[in-house]
Amino acid sequence: MNPDFQSWAGSCQARIETFLEARLPAADCVPERLHKAMRYSVLGGGKRVRPLLSFAAGELVAADSERITVVGAAVELIHAYSLVHDDLPCMDDDILRRGKPTCHIEYDEATALLTGDSLQTLAFELLAEKPLADMPGTQLQMIAQLASASGSRGMAGGQAFDLDSVGKMLSLPELEFMHIHKTGALIRAAVMLGARCGSCLSDEQLAQLDHFAKCVGLAFQVVDDLLDTEATTATLGKTAGKDAEHNKPTYVSILGISQARELAEKLQHDAYQALDGFKEAALRLRQVTDFIIKRKF
Ligand code: IPE
Ligand code: IPE
Ligand code: MG
Ligand code: MG
Ligand code: MG
Repeated sequence: MNPDFQSWAGSCQARIETFLEARLPAADCVPERLHKAMRYSVLGGGKRVRPLLSFAAGELVAADSERITVVGAAVELIHAYSLVHDDLPCMDDDILRRGKPTCHIEYDEATALLTGDSLQTLAFELLAEKPLADMPGTQLQMIAQLASASGSRGMAGGQAFDLDSVGKMLSLPELEFMHIHKTGALIRAAVMLGARCGSCLSDEQLAQLDHFAKCVGLAFQVVDDLLDTEATTATLGKTAGKDAEHNKPTYVSILGISQARELAEKLQHDAYQALDGFKEAALRLRQVTDFIIKRKF
């Protein structure tokens, strides 16, 4: 990894960690078990890719880093909630996440359900509590965008499609629909909310950035499918090989490993192309894209 990228990413990750540490309710605050489970599920783990995308998009518009930290943390809270619920026995039934027992294993199912609910509402509390954009109307749009990216027309809808697809042979457009929703929507929101924290982009620039985010969001899940087949449980910090075991249609099951890898690289190329108009200002977005495509975990 480019050392310059590594130190930039490290400092963004540290900002997010410090902010989340301070904003999650304390472990000794009642109800203690729920607050401990929330902290357990969010802190000290994860690649924090979505906040990195918010920071990188914020750099395009010279956004204030405190605003981006709030936005990145809100998206990360939604993501952490989605993982806690994704791991439940009624969904993927996983016991390992970020190298630790999953929330329902460490605590219990009811606590995991409430942890997800509470992380989700905390995300919106953060977005609504102080100015994050130059115009109040822009901030309202940001809140609405994260809500629709998280709900039945975004992540939760994609998860419903995922569960409904077990054991089925999906067509490529169906698979793309599922991935764009279950993973892509939140990644798109991470980019667009980061970009809205700063000075206004033109409609054309916003459309280019949105196209970039759509390519990266899809690529992210294609690589996740590849890693489920190619990587080990120890490297991933989550159980490898679960997609095949659960009979999930994925880019690997439908295209095979080498075509799935080619698709990830094509999406990387398309993502880069969408950034052409931003020139050097998009350096960090290109670097985060490389990290997403080349990651080993
Ligand atoms: C895993 O996301 C779940 C998907 C949406 C594919 P990440 O790979 O970003 O998980 P963490 O946050 O690094 O643990
Ligand atoms: C999860 O996709 C997407 C979410 C919305 C959480 P996966 O089920 O493939 O994620 P992992 O592999 O368990 O992290
Ligand atoms: Mg899943
Ligand atoms: Mg899963
Ligand atoms: Mg997966």
